[in-house]
Amino acid sequence: MHLLLAITGDPKAQRWIEAFQRQLPDARISVWSDDAEPVDADYAVVWHPPAALFTRETRLRAVFNIGAGVDGLLSVPTLPADLPVIRLEDAGMSVQMAEYVLHALWEVSRDFAAYRRQEPEGNWKVLPVTRREQWTVGVLGLGQVGRRVAEATASFGYPTAGWSRTPREIAGIETFAGSDALPAFLARTRVLVNVLPLTDDTRDILAAPLFAQLPQGAHVINVGRGQHLVEDDLLAALESGQLAGATLDVFRTEPLPAEHAFWRHPAITVTPHTAARTLRAESVAQIAGKIRRLESGEDAGGQVERGRGY
Ligand code: GLV
Repeated sequence: MHLLLAITGDPKAQRWIEAFQRQLPDARISVWSDDAEPVDADYAVVWHPPAALFTRETRLRAVFNIGAGVDGLLSVPTLPADLPVIRLEDAGMSVQMAEYVLHALWEVSRDFAAYRRQEPEGNWKVLPVTRREQWTVGVLGLGQVGRRVAEATASFGYPTAGWSRTPREIAGIETFAGSDALPAFLARTRVLVNVLPLTDDTRDILAAPLFAQLPQGAHVINVGRGQHLVEDDLLAALESGQLAGATLDVFRTEPLPAEHAFWRHPAITVTPHTAARTLRAESVAQIAGKIRRLESGEDAGGQVERGRGY
């Protein structure tokens, strides 16, 4: 069995090879290079792979995406329509996402950001006590990650709702489904968290019409994809006071250019696409397990439905 790795942007390819070799000792493992001959790989493990991979490697039986979001892979024009695409399922990402969102929530709900501004002034000013019932959290997207995020905020007593395309039931979470239910979900949401997959339906969803349906002074946390957010609409909503602040981990252009207005905007917190990192050991163990299952004719789990895009 031959495994081909094409992990764009990761200079530590060798570590991935070693980790896969430990998990799959009988596998042959190659790393993609633009000028190599075809290796007739059975499986490819990729992150933003080059288009040439799918024209050169024509014997692939499945491609594994080492991330939760498959938008970068599905947009490769040469990806064969019938090639199974398998994404990471949690693999240590959901807990990181929950942690990130709790931190962003507490910054505003517990006034930690405000206390940090008081500190250099030597200002001992105790701000009003946090009333959790006033800090309604709404999670857009209730896949594995969204569910974990919603459970985390609910577990700290924040009234939490979730919205998904198709109905979901989660204990302790008020759930809304479908576009008809979106206005009611937004109307009760003070802190909106986006963990949707990027698809044609969700691109540009975080825009003026959506912001207008949130209560005035709402906060937006975007940990989905930069393409979910219409940047100028966010700036306008902050300017008008419709939104009070935003915490952004993902951007239309990454790295976010140093001169971009988001960096120095007082109401925007920027982090460099780090909310939930792919963890090598967890990911390799999960993918190796899926390969073993495929090799013995079983279902691997985590297969993307190409038609819906996630
Ligand atoms: C990261 O952005 C991922 O999709 O896992």
